[in-house]
Amino acid sequence: MVTRVLHLILVALTLICDSGNCATFENVSIVLVSRSPEYLRTFFSVYVRSANSLAPYVNPQSFEVIVIVEENVPVLRKNSISNMSKIEEINIVASGLRRIEPGTFHDLPKLQQLNLSGNSLVEIENGVFTNLQVRSLSLQNNQIARLGDRAFNDMNLRFLFLNHNKISTWSSKWFAGNPLKSIQMADNLVQELPAYAFKYLRRFGDRIDVINLSNNKLQRIDGQAFNGLNHLGVVNFQNNLIEVLPSNVFRSGSEINTLDVTNNKISDLTASLACLTSVDSAVFENVTVSLTTELTKLYVYGRPPIDVVLIQSSNTLGETNAFPSSKKTQLVTCPTSFMSL
Ligand SMILES: *[C@@H]1O[C@H](CO)[C@@H](O)[C@H](O)[C@H]1NC(C)=O
Ligand SMILES: *[C@@H]1O[C@H](CO)[C@@H](O)[C@H](O)[C@H]1NC(C)=O
Ligand SMILES: *[C@@H]1O[C@H](CO)[C@@H](O)[C@H](O)[C@H]1NC(C)=O
Ligand SMILES: *[C@@H]1O[C@H](CO)[C@@H](O)[C@H](O)[C@H]1NC(C)=O
Ligand SMILES: *[C@@H]1O[C@H](CO)[C@@H](O)[C@H](O)[C@H]1NC(C)=O
Repeated sequence: MVTRVLHLILVALTLICDSGNCATFENVSIVLVSRSPEYLRTFFSVYVRSANSLAPYVNPQSFEVIVIVEENVPVLRKNSISNMSKIEEINIVASGLRRIEPGTFHDLPKLQQLNLSGNSLVEIENGVFTNLQVRSLSLQNNQIARLGDRAFNDMNLRFLFLNHNKISTWSSKWFAGNPLKSIQMADNLVQELPAYAFKYLRRFGDRIDVINLSNNKLQRIDGQAFNGLNHLGVVNFQNNLIEVLPSNVFRSGSEINTLDVTNNKISDLTASLACLTSVDSAVFENVTVSLTTELTKLYVYGRPPIDVVLIQSSNTLGETNAFPSSKKTQLVTCPTSFMSL
């Protein structure tokens, strides 16, 4: 009962605050920490009774990291996180954040990492991150269902964490102008990976180390989804609903390290894997598969077709099984016999 009343009070306060009557930071504890290892245990804690900007609390101190955890910050308003020239990392985590107004972040010249995980964000509007240049952005464990078509444009991002949200579509435009190395989007609702899914990455054609779409609702991977990427590290499609990986889907990649399609509905991998070989010097290692069929064949350049027995549980086709013990396996051109399979 008491909990319920407290909860109602909190909801009421939050509603009042949403309509603009509260300051952005009310009754919020902020911890400032140093990034350098030798000062790791020094910190400064400040209680903000009511303020619309963090700068006056942060700038007089000599710390580089802002930590706000399990506080109550429902809305980040325009200019509220700005004008802090020393700050390298900002964490606003598990603090009930539901909306970020465009214009919240600016004049943060040293910021490298922004972590807004564990909040209740439902939408990332265009312009929210416009003025930011960060290596790493985490929006994990929110309720994000809508992303503006330019949500992450030109942020200079290397690492993007969107795991555990409600994203159901994929747009390559979101990533425009970023040299992304890792896109973590596990535990969402994405149904389709469209053609040229990585088209707008800055340095399109380079290597991407991790694409994690495990635990989504993927049913369709376009045959041209990966076009333009030359090197793929880990591609994780675990726990989706894929029935067919199109033949040739990896043809534009000259190298893929690990493809994980465990727990999908793929009944035959032959086409997709064999045709990876249509690119010269493609490399394919450590294929993890879990299929319902009992037998499939892999064509490996310079070797007879290999029968691979696939059982229900996940099964790593490592060097012992499908690939020769030489360091890397060169796969080239689809075998003609493949067509008649
Ligand atoms: C902050 O604390 C003051 C004093 O206890 C209270 O009046 C105010 O409603 C609180 N604001 C929020 C947003 O919790
Ligand atoms: C930015 O912060 C400095 C103090 O660090 C202050 O002197 C200056 O007025 C602020 N500028 C703006 C635009 O808020
Ligand atoms: C963000 O913060 C959460 C909670 O502290 C942590 O678990 C997670 O690893 C952080 N993510 C990044 C990318 O730093
Ligand atoms: C992909 O995400 C899943 C679920 O969060 C995680 O367990 C796994 O380690 C991730 N894989 C890679 C390659 O990052
Ligand atoms: C493939 O698996 C082997 C054995 O686990 C490991 O040593 C090797 O680094 C893996 N290769 C790649 C490209 O991940």
